[in-house]
Amino acid sequence: MNEFDLIVKDIVNNANFRELDSELHHGITRYGHSLRVAKGVYKITKKLHMNYKEATRAALLHDFFFNYQLEENGPIKNLGEHPKVAYLNATKYYNLSDLQKNMILSHMFPLGGVLPKYKESFCITLVDKVVAIYEQQRYKVGMKLGVYFLFIFNMLTLHK
Ligand SMILES: [Fe+2]
Ligand SMILES: [Fe+2]
Repeated sequence: MNEFDLIVKDIVNNANFRELDSELHHGITRYGHSLRVAKGVYKITKKLHMNYKEATRAALLHDFFFNYQLEENGPIKNLGEHPKVAYLNATKYYNLSDLQKNMILSHMFPLGGVLPKYKESFCITLVDKVVAIYEQQRYKVGMKLGVYFLFIFNMLTLHK
């Protein structure tokens, strides 16, 4: 087992956390998104000699929330609110350090009202945004292909 897998093993084996695999997020699952952010944070924080073990775990937990927990808010408000829900969910299972708490709560900076206090917190705000843009672009390509496919399908069936 590689070091990354060892660091996150208990979290990815947490049945409640694994339910994020059924939550849609940027066109993939929230589990897939969280894993991607955690891998990015692991690589960067390790290379830069930061507290990479704590940072990697916090990165994996940064979006530990379920859509039903945010139903009463609108999508815009949820951009700033979901880190608090993720933090509360994470604390049900794990003791989080101040660094991890700040990473989760400030990952939507400049939204959400919590400032990144640590180098690792700045790292997650950047990695999360880069990953989100990458995922949304992939999603857009999928959507475009779907629209083209429907267009061609309609053309073919209409001209029969
Ligand atoms: Fe988030
Ligand atoms: Fe995220």
